[in-house]
Amino acid sequence: MEEKELIRAAMEARKKAYAPYSDFMVGAALMTDSGKIYQGCNIENASYGATNCAERTAVFCAVSEGEIRFKAIAIIGGMRNKELTYAFPCGICRQVLREFCEPDQMLVIVARSETDYKKMKLSELLPESFGPDFAG
Ligand code: THU
Repeated sequence: MEEKELIRAAMEARKKAYAPYSDFMVGAALMTDSGKIYQGCNIENASYGATNCAERTAVFCAVSEGEIRFKAIAIIGGMRNKELTYAFPCGICRQVLREFCEPDQMLVIVARSETDYKKMKLSELLPESFGPDFAG
């Protein structure tokens, strides 16, 4: 799997981040089981609670296009015009990702550059998770 390609796509997505309130700019790129890439950025709101994270933007974009199985996501984040940080997905995004993947296989790549990144499985970030099998 092309990790660098996914990281590059997340960097590209981050350029569209709408984050005038926090100035924390996030981009995400999600790879489907079939190898397609969907991008997303964080979208803030004057009513702060209405903000959507980059990861969820990417997931919702993919699902609304009929894609519901994912195998990897790359995330890029950091304050505007500052060094990138390792931007780990928030709890809500972890749970949303959980819905559409196999947690032991789903790769989460948190990157600061194409060569400087941490890679883990969703099951490490969200152990003993609650998924569709339980709720159905
Ligand atoms: N944010 C994300 O886009 N993804 C996360 O997983 C954590 C937080 C965004 C939401 C908000 O626009 C900004 O980062 C600061 O919380």
